[in-house]
Amino acid sequence: MALQNDESFSVLLDSQAHILNHAYSFVRSMSLKCAIELEIPDIINRHGAPMSLSELVDALPINKERSQYVYRLMRILVHAGFFVIQSLPTTKGVDGEEREGYSLTPSSRLLLKDEALNITPLFLVFLDPIMMDPWQNMSKWLRNDNDVNPFQTTHGKMAYELAVEDPKLYQSINEGMASDGRLVASVILQHCKGIFEGLASVVDIGGGTGTFAKYIAEAFPNLSYINFDLPQVVKGLEGSKNLSFVGGDMFETIPKTQAVLFKWVLHNWNDEECVEILKRCKEAISTKENGGKVIIIEMVLKDEESGNKTLETQLFFDMFELTLAKGRQRSEKDWAKLFHDACFSGYKIYPVLGIRSVIEVYP
Ligand SMILES: C[S@@+](CC[C@H](N)C(=O)[O-])C[C@H]1O[C@@H](n2cnc3c(N)ncnc32)[C@H](O)[C@@H]1O
Repeated sequence: MALQNDESFSVLLDSQAHILNHAYSFVRSMSLKCAIELEIPDIINRHGAPMSLSELVDALPINKERSQYVYRLMRILVHAGFFVIQSLPTTKGVDGEEREGYSLTPSSRLLLKDEALNITPLFLVFLDPIMMDPWQNMSKWLRNDNDVNPFQTTHGKMAYELAVEDPKLYQSINEGMASDGRLVASVILQHCKGIFEGLASVVDIGGGTGTFAKYIAEAFPNLSYINFDLPQVVKGLEGSKNLSFVGGDMFETIPKTQAVLFKWVLHNWNDEECVEILKRCKEAISTKENGGKVIIIEMVLKDEESGNKTLETQLFFDMFELTLAKGRQRSEKDWAKLFHDACFSGYKIYPVLGIRSVIEVYP
């Protein structure tokens, strides 16, 4: 390529940097995984003040001959916003001693073991090698014609089939979903409790092992809450006065109820399947006049806006769905079409959950 002028030279180098940045996009997530495995957020938190590099190195369960590398790990994680560098108390700042130390940020606080809303299990399940390997086979899957998704191309079976056979994977998926359930329930109970107010009964379809369900049922003692999932998922789980676990297949039967709820379920299914599920819901719930509704906790894709981090995260999740399941993330237009095709009369989106929203759909 002939370089004519400064402008094309700078475009060339910017393009190279852009490509190389993408080649190493995984460095942030894998470095964070390493920090979690070494319990760096917990160690800094226990220290109770900015922690100097030497204090951190001393406290880490590592081969001390490798201490010199910790600085580089911390540097990328500071750059990525998981730690900040702060001045150490003045008594420590005498000549020859370190003057700065690492502190946590709101993001690394969410990874602490003692943090009630920590989402470490969810983060780790996304980075499990079983979940990561299918990315190597994306183009192979696009070329072939016999697998549902790259996960099947890689592992020879669907994710839920492998999870049934692999208790460790099954447990980490459940723990990941439970950690998300805690956080989402907490935000809903603090900021949009109205979604459940006045309801007499809810069926949480695909509620998993019921962490979200437990929080909501406890907060609304007069609400009869059913956590509905496949029989093998809810087998042996104990409910409470107003929470019960019911096994079944949503494609076959949905218990009669005033409202149904789907949290992170419909994104696993294609449009035809979603319309089928929603039609079944419409038969199961009360009329609009009697407070019937479908509550959906999912992403609503933002409009195209270059540089928008929320949209980028949503697109990451869309691709994750592509590798793992057979569904997708949806825009408001996509959701509206599903609701229309399933003969619902209207909907309202509450963008109260960061990258996700609560959608109420009315019969
Ligand atoms: C991504 S998980 C979401 C779990 C939970 N709602 C949450 O957000 O933590 C999807 C759930 O759908 C359940 N599921 C899959 N197929 C189902 C079916 N045919 N009937 C009922 N539940 C199903 C799975 O067992 C799983 O628990």
